[in-house]
Order: sequence, then structure tokens, then C-alpha cells
Amino acid sequence: MKGLILSGGKGTRLRPLTFTSAKQLIPLANKPVLFRVIQAIRDAGIEEIGIVIAPETGAEIKSVVGDGSRWGARITYILQDEPRGLAHAVKISRDFLGDSRFVMFLGDNCIEGGIHRLIEQYAASDYNSQIVLTRVADPRQYGVAVLRPDGSIERLVEKPKDPPSDLALVGIYMFDKHVFEAVEAIQPSWRNELEITDAIQWLVTHGYRVYPYVHTGWWVDTGKREDMLEANALVLEELTPRCEGEVDARSTVDSRVTLERGARVVNSVVRGPTIIGENTQIINSYIGPFTSIDRDCMIENAEIERSIVLEGCRIEHIPARIHDSLIGRRSIITHAATKPNGYRLLLGDYSQAGLL
Ligand code: TTP
Repeated sequence: MKGLILSGGKGTRLRPLTFTSAKQLIPLANKPVLFRVIQAIRDAGIEEIGIVIAPETGAEIKSVVGDGSRWGARITYILQDEPRGLAHAVKISRDFLGDSRFVMFLGDNCIEGGIHRLIEQYAASDYNSQIVLTRVADPRQYGVAVLRPDGSIERLVEKPKDPPSDLALVGIYMFDKHVFEAVEAIQPSWRNELEITDAIQWLVTHGYRVYPYVHTGWWVDTGKREDMLEANALVLEELTPRCEGEVDARSTVDSRVTLERGARVVNSVVRGPTIIGENTQIINSYIGPFTSIDRDCMIENAEIERSIVLEGCRIEHIPARIHDSLIGRRSIITHAATKPNGYRLLLGDYSQAGLL
């Protein structure tokens, strides 16, 4: 069995962060989403992994991920010239995949409990494809599956107004070589993409055996800011806390806080689950639950809660609490001491700021 991770795409919903970096490299609990995906595939016993990359962010992904040896995996990069859909990504990966059965995992998806159980089930079956589904409260925003009485997939419906079931497609799919017949046969959709749901529907219609795997833990597609924050909170809750940093006597740091090497907390309160990255300084500040602050940041006289702060940020002397925020690398947020009173902003294209 091989693994195929989709890490191309444009990430328009996470602009401006995705102008300069791949969304799959945005950290959850200070570790890129993509690392979690690679680890999950590796933990399921798969060593041969292909990663589909885009021209804009491929070089960064290659340099951060490398050849996979740190996970005991062999990684092959597959360049997709444009984001022409998930089924297009399968199509261009044919040389890498050969006749192997494979698991395809979206590089921005995050799932509880790994994927070894579903890999084992698929490996032991004679299914041509198995797709991961989960029950959701509002299926209208997802691809939804309808099952036959024998439990196999009967059909898939994209974002139905009147959902025929509450079983949504999670971004994990298993296929055998017959999927190549499907991706060759289907036509681009209205948004000009080769849709994976159309490829799966083609398999069903042509009599191939397509079955569900119903996942019961949490699952987050981190495509938007709010989803990133939610995934960050869930991953922080799973973390086993460790303290490799320093806390002074005037600070309160609870037992669910992780301090990475060289992190320093001075006269501050830090409530977990939270992670403070390498060499980050927290001074006269409050860091609330569900916050990840990456390496080399300086937080002074500030309050931050349920947020993700990327490396190298400086956040100082802020009169109001920062919450539910996703702050890009090396951002500077400070209190402007000079007149006129007001907000002085230097924001990239597509930035969002929620001011008091
Ligand atoms: P999406 O989130 O559907 O697309 P996107 O990343 O372009 O984001 P946005 O909608 O905000 O512009 O993609 C899901 C995953 O699949 C993500 O990791 C990117 C990857 N992908 C590809 O590798 N190739 C593609 O052609 C597409 C559409 C997505």
C-alpha cells in the first residue's frame, strides 16, 4: 500500500498567510498540519508516500519535509501545475502509484486517532475503494453519501440543500488501480475541477465495490481560520505536557502547559492546554487556553487566548485581549504611544482585523 498526500491547492480562504506559505505548513500545537498527516500514514505502516505540491508552495514544502527519513518514510514529490481538482491530483500521480492500492489524504485535514484501523480494514477487504465518512450535524456544507441496504455506497451528493443522510465525506479515501479508469473518464465540473466525488460515483455506477468507513472521533478540515483554531484546540488537548523552559516565581503556569526548550515565562499567567515555543518570552502577560505560540516570539504586557501565533512575532503593550486570532510569521502588534490616538495598520492583501 502507498500513501498520497494532497498538498497543492491555492488556500485562498487562508489568505494572506497563504501568499507566503503553504497552508499545510501552518502549525497546530507548533507542528505543521502536514506533519500530522505524514505521521498518521507512517503509523499505519505505509513507507512509500507521494506528496502532490503546487508550483507556488512546493519548494517550501520540500525543504521543510525533506525526503521523509525523519519519519522512516520515502517521499516522492509530484508537481501539479494548477489546482485542477482532487481527481486530477490522482491522475498525475499514476506513475508514482503504479498498480498499488493507496490511501489518499488531504494535506490540510486533521483526524483523531490516526488511520491504522481503516487501512487494516481496507487491506483485508476486496473493496475497490473505501471512503471515510463521519456523521455531522449540518451535512449541507459537505459531500454526503447515501448507503445501500448492504452497506455499500449508492451515491454521493455535493453540498445537498436537502441532505439525504448525515454521513459527510472526510478527506481520506482508499483506492485500487481502477480509480485511474474513473479519473480518465470524468469531465471537469462547473468549477473546472476534476472532482473526486465524480470519480467515486463513476466507480459505483460502473459496478466497482465502494464501501464506507465510518469514523467516530473528531475530524477537522483546516481550510478556514475558525477551523484552524478548532483543530489547534483539539490537538492541544491531546498533547502530553512537558516543561523544557523556565518559569519565574511570580508566574502561574498550570499543568496543561507545554514549554519548549528555552521558552521563558516571567510575571505572567499561562493556562493550558497551551504550548509556548522554543526561545519565546512571555513577560507580564496572560496566555489563555487553546493557544499555540511558536518559536522566537516576544509577548510582553499582552493577553492572548485561543489563538495561533506563528514564529518570530512581537506582541507588546496591547490594552485589549487578543483572541480567536491567527497571526502570521514575524508579525508585529504593538501599542502606538504617539498621537494621533487610533489604529495604525500595515496589513497585507486580504488581511482581516477585528478592532474595538
Ligand atoms: P481545498 O481546501 O479544497 O482547496 P485549496 O487548498 O485550494 O483551498 P481554497 O479552497 O481555500 O482555495 O483542498 C484540499 C486539499 O487538497 C488541500 O491540502 C490542497 C489540496 N489540493 C491539491 O493538492 N490539488 C488540487 O487541485 C486541489 C483543489 C486541492
